[in-house]
Amino acid sequence: MINKLKELIKDDKVLLALSGGVDSSVCALLLNKAIGKNLTCVFVDTGLLRLNEADEVMDMFKNKFDLNVIKLDASELFLNNLKGVIDPEEKRKIIGHTFIDAFMEVLTDEYKYFAQGTIKTDVTESLHAKIKTHHNLALPKMDYILLEPLKDLYKHEVRELGLSLGISKEFLYRKPFPGPGLAVRITGEITKEKLEIARLTDHILKEELIKNNLEKDIFQYFTVVTNTKSTAIKENTRFYGYVVSIRAVLSKDAKTASIAEIPYPVLKEITNKLLDVKGVSRVVYDITDKPKGTIEWE
Ligand code: XMP
Repeated sequence: MINKLKELIKDDKVLLALSGGVDSSVCALLLNKAIGKNLTCVFVDTGLLRLNEADEVMDMFKNKFDLNVIKLDASELFLNNLKGVIDPEEKRKIIGHTFIDAFMEVLTDEYKYFAQGTIKTDVTESLHAKIKTHHNLALPKMDYILLEPLKDLYKHEVRELGLSLGISKEFLYRKPFPGPGLAVRITGEITKEKLEIARLTDHILKEELIKNNLEKDIFQYFTVVTNTKSTAIKENTRFYGYVVSIRAVLSKDAKTASIAEIPYPVLKEITNKLLDVKGVSRVVYDITDKPKGTIEWE
């Protein structure tokens, strides 16, 4: 693949959309092996990422792998565009368009190719009827050539390729995280306050599951900041804040999933920690399997 890419691209420049997920990361390192500094990666900080995630991505690609990476801080742009929007499909569409707008700013004439880490399942899934709009960039046709070097590979093959390129196993086998990020885990309008709650509660849930030795066996887990508020008592005063739900599922491929039966004592411990987060009034546990529910709430 490296030789083929070298032959194809020659001395031209490539811009890659780097999300920090497995696919785009493997694609970045593959292209880097082929064309070195003629590759520029753009990482869009949507403001919809998990705690410390943007810094970790930048650190890994810039410092560890020495790639050309530009970070675009588009968090205010995303938040503005999402203002007042409550419909899940509309949110996804807006996020998709905002990504495109952010990329168009950096995709200058200098680049002959625009690369992304599309893999085989992305291609087949978008050919079939969709339950939700999945997130892949479809930039307007302009004067660049689309490069998708991983589009004939399945996920397990992408991971093997990643291993051979020096990416750690830990990184390659991380839990899946949706393209639209925390936006699909916040119901109702997305606000700075809800995002902060989503980030902190997600982080606490992770730490607690690791501490209790449950993290590895759960396919996906996260918190959902619902649009429902309830009364509570904090520091002896009445308080009205958001209801947060814990979601944790077992699955092989995300097509079906059953809930993870976290022991009650652990759930209680997690709940108490989550209630310490500012703005959280109540914690519930979602026990809906897929089907009939979906894994994400939106
Ligand atoms: P659902 O909620 O449909 O999710 O049961 C199935 C799996 O897909 C992930 N997911 C997404 N991944 N872009 C992604 O890249 C998306 O828009 C998206 N929506 C859901 C979800 O996290 C789960 O693993």
